[in-house]
Amino acid sequence: MLTGQIAPTPPMGFNTWNTFQTKISEDMLKEMVDVYVSSGMKESGYQYFVLDDGWMSMERDQNGSLVADPVKFPHGMKAFADYVHSKGLKFGIYNCAGSKTCAGYPGTRGHEYEDARLYASWGVDFLKYDWCNTDSLNTPEAYKTMSAALKATGRPIVFSICEWGGHTPWLWAGGVGELYRTTGDITASFVIDKDYGNWTAQSVVSILDKQIPIRKYNGPNHWNDPDMLEVGNGMTYNEDKSHFSLWCMLAAPLAAGNDLRKMSPQTRDILTNKEMIAVDQDERGISAFKMMMEDSLELWVKPLKNNEVAFCFFNRTTGSKKLNLNWKDLNISDPQSGLEIHFDNQYFTLRDLWLKKDAGKTDKKLERDLASHEVIVFKLTPSSK
Ligand code: GLA
Repeated sequence: MLTGQIAPTPPMGFNTWNTFQTKISEDMLKEMVDVYVSSGMKESGYQYFVLDDGWMSMERDQNGSLVADPVKFPHGMKAFADYVHSKGLKFGIYNCAGSKTCAGYPGTRGHEYEDARLYASWGVDFLKYDWCNTDSLNTPEAYKTMSAALKATGRPIVFSICEWGGHTPWLWAGGVGELYRTTGDITASFVIDKDYGNWTAQSVVSILDKQIPIRKYNGPNHWNDPDMLEVGNGMTYNEDKSHFSLWCMLAAPLAAGNDLRKMSPQTRDILTNKEMIAVDQDERGISAFKMMMEDSLELWVKPLKNNEVAFCFFNRTTGSKKLNLNWKDLNISDPQSGLEIHFDNQYFTLRDLWLKKDAGKTDKKLERDLASHEVIVFKLTPSSK
């Protein structure tokens, strides 16, 4: 397959940044790779193991080539990539369109083709490409140059565009990269953004809300990327569960960002919920749209293949909420996907994707309690009355 068709469903993987920043090393990362496999992440569909910023030496070598930090990676990057591949995973790496990466390591500006060739020689399968220290660079052009450099290697390399949504990548990134960040960086906070002076880290719901107007641009091989997961990084269980569910509803790339070696059984259960992941990975690749049920109780609806639909009820408030739904009163219409449901004469069976059990049909009222920041997610399958 050529670049442009190598991400028919949202890429799934792990990325070092959210937990480790630049504090990475070969030994620690090998442990993570091992747990990636033994914990069931790989078996659940996660594929990429991605090194973010901080993998390289502070200077290029005398030939102008990037080199892996010899202290962090004493056996070099090819050996580490081989280790990742030996476990049946794909290997990803990071650099930046500017003169330096965001953490101050050598950027790719002016070295696009040689860096791409180096990555291909190491067996890189995924490149995250950032936007720090770019001065007056033209954004689409800079990403198109690196995209062409990757294609010229002949190796399929997923290209992850990371310019934080500032230059409307949803309008030009299709065909350039397979995914493109839509916002600034996420942080492990559910509702409160964190102000760091010259930049603001975004909460889960801030990012969620910013996906609404760009929903229509999402689709196979050109994914809106609402940033990596913070599941297991300090939010409550319900918040982690909601964050994960909502990202699946958005058909978002899923990049775990926690220390896999230390994850609790609850965190693992969230990240490896295969029925929820199937919603994310649905081949139609359509993002959910939002309907309000009542004040701050939201319903997100995602059309799926075979006329199935995912429904995610989401309590955004700090208090508990009662869900009291008479299905017959509900009509759903989504011109973008062609979804049209009139529950007074159409019937569906309900599958609760977190309780992992069948939950009756839409012929009966739905009564459930939602704790603060909790979701309930159903898959609806058409049925007779
Ligand atoms: C930017 C990106 C992050 C991460 C860091 C690395 O902030 O948006 O996801 O890659 O750079 O320095």
